[in-house]
Amino acid sequence: MKPLSMMISTLALSVLSVASNVAIADGTGIVNSNLTQSSLPPSISLPNVSPINNDLANRGAYIARTADCMACHREDYSGGVPIETPIGNIYSTNITPSTQYGIGNYTEADFTKALRKGRAPNHQLYPAMPYPSYHGMTDDDISALFAYFQTVPVVDKPPEKTTRLPFPLNIRSLMLAWNVINVPSTKSRTGLTPMQQRGEYLVNNLEHCGTCHTPRNLTQGLDKDGYLSGAPLGKWFAPNITPDNDTGIGRWSERDIVTYLRTGKIDKRAYAGGPMAEAVGHSTRYLTDEDLSAMANYLKVIPAIKTDDYLIPVNVARLPNPISSSITYDLLEQKDYLAQAKTNTSKTSSSDSSKSSAESSSKALYLAHCGSCHGVDGYAQPDARYAAIVGLSSIRRAKPDALIGVIAFGAKGAFNTAPKMPGFEKDLSPAQIASITNYVRVNFGGLPSSEVSAADVKRVIKEKS
Ligand code: HEC
Ligand code: HEC
Ligand code: HEC
Repeated sequence: MKPLSMMISTLALSVLSVASNVAIADGTGIVNSNLTQSSLPPSISLPNVSPINNDLANRGAYIARTADCMACHREDYSGGVPIETPIGNIYSTNITPSTQYGIGNYTEADFTKALRKGRAPNHQLYPAMPYPSYHGMTDDDISALFAYFQTVPVVDKPPEKTTRLPFPLNIRSLMLAWNVINVPSTKSRTGLTPMQQRGEYLVNNLEHCGTCHTPRNLTQGLDKDGYLSGAPLGKWFAPNITPDNDTGIGRWSERDIVTYLRTGKIDKRAYAGGPMAEAVGHSTRYLTDEDLSAMANYLKVIPAIKTDDYLIPVNVARLPNPISSSITYDLLEQKDYLAQAKTNTSKTSSSDSSKSSAESSSKALYLAHCGSCHGVDGYAQPDARYAAIVGLSSIRRAKPDALIGVIAFGAKGAFNTAPKMPGFEKDLSPAQIASITNYVRVNFGGLPSSEVSAADVKRVIKEKS
């Protein structure tokens, strides 16, 4: 039998990428909303707000957005979304007002306890439900949320999948000991302006940004000393978002942060993929300008933490210019390389390609496997919603791990109409993935050089598998 402390620490959960499994927009009509739209809507319309509901319920609908309930419980709150954790998948539950399968029998006091203490009427919840963050939610916000949940259409069926953990992990009351150490998950700062206090409340308690961006302590709770300084997240990495200039977002203006949270991208700088696409797609893009600005303003005054994950600043002069936005151009440009790539693919997988052909073969590999979506020039095809990858922070990290992870395992955006990037782990050898990684970093990231090796790729695949 393991000692209790060990059991608790294995029990403890890190909320990993719910991304790949969440099908959004199931019948909610948000399919047409476009993440890549860069102009701000004159007034934000919330898909979960209904004019027939009262003001309190509609305020609750907005709070549900800011607290991102949908990323885990689905847009219709029917649940069944797996949250990957070190001890296995924890499935979210039905939180519609169904009396049989949902929370239809909850009183407001029950609802408050579930949000603040992770305590459902008959059992303790696992912290895959972010109650350590919701712990600090105000009474007013919880009342509004509760009013809103009474208006949500009932889904009278159980989630497709439910949590089944083996003994002793299924002993939910073990979480009580964990809670003593890890709830609340953040501490409030002093000396903040009212705007920054609002930003802190949003970042810490509603949006729970730290569940992804803060590293974990030994019991897998949030490590308060590493607050928002970046953490591995399943096959992804959530970067440092403290205001450090070299490893965080110190060089971003508040406007940049607002633009990123609103649109999911900043031209030639950053892109919200995977789990961050979820956060933007379900939540931040719907927030008011005031709330986004409050978060941006707050993120500028938290302690800057320098990590070892250096970001190489964009060297604009080294970035390619968009050549042509015509698909015909891309296809013609690709043609020769595709032919060349075919011969090279068979060569490079068996033996190391000779140094002299390395550059052309890496370009050929890029064009053959990536070019049809991301474009010859890295600016992506104009009509399909593929990501432009020129200048992105994720390809300018001194550590190539996050980029290797995306190439090896692929990526899925937040919208089920958006195309999915396949993973290349099976189709390409580690040497080929290394070669493409180097090509992308130098040609689209503006890095002076890149020396990612097949061994690096093998290590990352092993760590993230
Ligand atoms: C990061 C994922 C995540 C987010 C965000 C999230 N939940 Fe949950 N929630 C879960 C999971 C997983 C469970 C089931 C936990 C378990 O079985 O121990 C759960 C359980 C619950 C329960 C208990 C239901 C029951 O009786 O079984 C309620 C109530 C609930 N969530 C409400 C909410 C509300 C309201 C929000 C938004 C304010 C929210 N959740 C946001 C993951 C999440
Ligand atoms: C579900 C996990 C998750 C949540 C919740 C989340 N993030 Fe992220 N965030 C990520 C990941 C993963 C990335 C990397 C995305 C990429 O490179 O495509 C990221 C990227 C970012 C970046 C870009 C950093 C850079 O250097 O490019 C910013 C800024 C950011 N997040 C801020 C926030 C804020 C503010 C919140 C809360 C409102 C938040 N995130 C919530 C996972 C998350
Ligand atoms: C079928 C189309 C497709 C192909 C082929 C493809 N990608 Fe992608 N790629 C995408 C999409 C779509 C996204 C955005 C995913 C998201 O929003 O999570 C993306 C995202 C990216 C990102 C941004 C990661 C981030 O979030 O910061 C990089 C870098 C990237 N791809 C590189 C590559 C490379 C290198 C290849 C070739 C080995 C490749 N892609 C092949 C469609 C594709």
